[in-house]
Amino acid sequence: MGGKLVALGISELVDDLSNGMVALGPPSSTEELQLHFAREVHDEVAQPLINLILQIRALRAAHQGEEPFGGELAVLEDSVRQVLRRTRGMIVDLRDRADMRLRFAEALVRELPTPAGRNLRVQASSRWPAEINGWAAFNLLRIVQQAVVNAWRHGQARAIEVMLDLGLADDAIVVVLDDGIGLQDSTRGFGMIGMEERAVILGGTFTAQTRGTGGTRVEVRIPVAHLA
Ligand SMILES: Nc1ncnc2c1ncn2[C@@H]1O[C@H](COP(=O)(O)OP(=O)(O)O)[C@@H](O)[C@H]1O
Ligand SMILES: [Mg+2]
Repeated sequence: MGGKLVALGISELVDDLSNGMVALGPPSSTEELQLHFAREVHDEVAQPLINLILQIRALRAAHQGEEPFGGELAVLEDSVRQVLRRTRGMIVDLRDRADMRLRFAEALVRELPTPAGRNLRVQASSRWPAEINGWAAFNLLRIVQQAVVNAWRHGQARAIEVMLDLGLADDAIVVVLDDGIGLQDSTRGFGMIGMEERAVILGGTFTAQTRGTGGTRVEVRIPVAHLA
């Protein structure tokens, strides 16, 4: 009986292995690494946050009606809940990004904020790779999100165009054009520093400049081999 159960367990593991779901040994691909971190973030961050919330709730119950202590604890609990929500979002991002890898342009449209009355267009040339790895997709998405938020907020742009293309030197090019006021000074904040770092992490380059016609042009170039 016990032997049969063990055998069943092993055959299921073998099934999982052949489906590429479980790998023995250290992660060898981006995908495996992402799943590893999804599990780590769940076990080592999300779970402890839940314990924190429970402890705060116990404290609140013990000190009910003692102001301002009770109110402050409620605010604290709310803050921890927000962090937990963002943490869950990260786990989903790490685990469930097949759509982002396969149809990056469509995923961009879905994930980019567009305030009412403003226009955002995403165009992908036929040369843009049909599939890019999850790590690259994730970092490119964050770069474009930051560029778009900057364009709406700082540039007061009315329209943004995001273009995905492949250059002659086989570098993937992501361009974000806005029709706003352009970069007024050259001071970079943490947003642009982070965008450049993400581009460098992917083995590429980042530039942001004011367009001749006004507005801002953000451009990221990544050797296409790094997207595979
Ligand atoms: N699309 C844009 N249009 C106009 N100004 C911009 C744009 N993007 C960035 N900037 C300017 O560059 C500065 C730095 O941007 P960023 O590094 O994202 O930091 P933050 O958004 O935190 O200020 C902004 O404060 C703004 O002055
Ligand atoms: Mg910013």
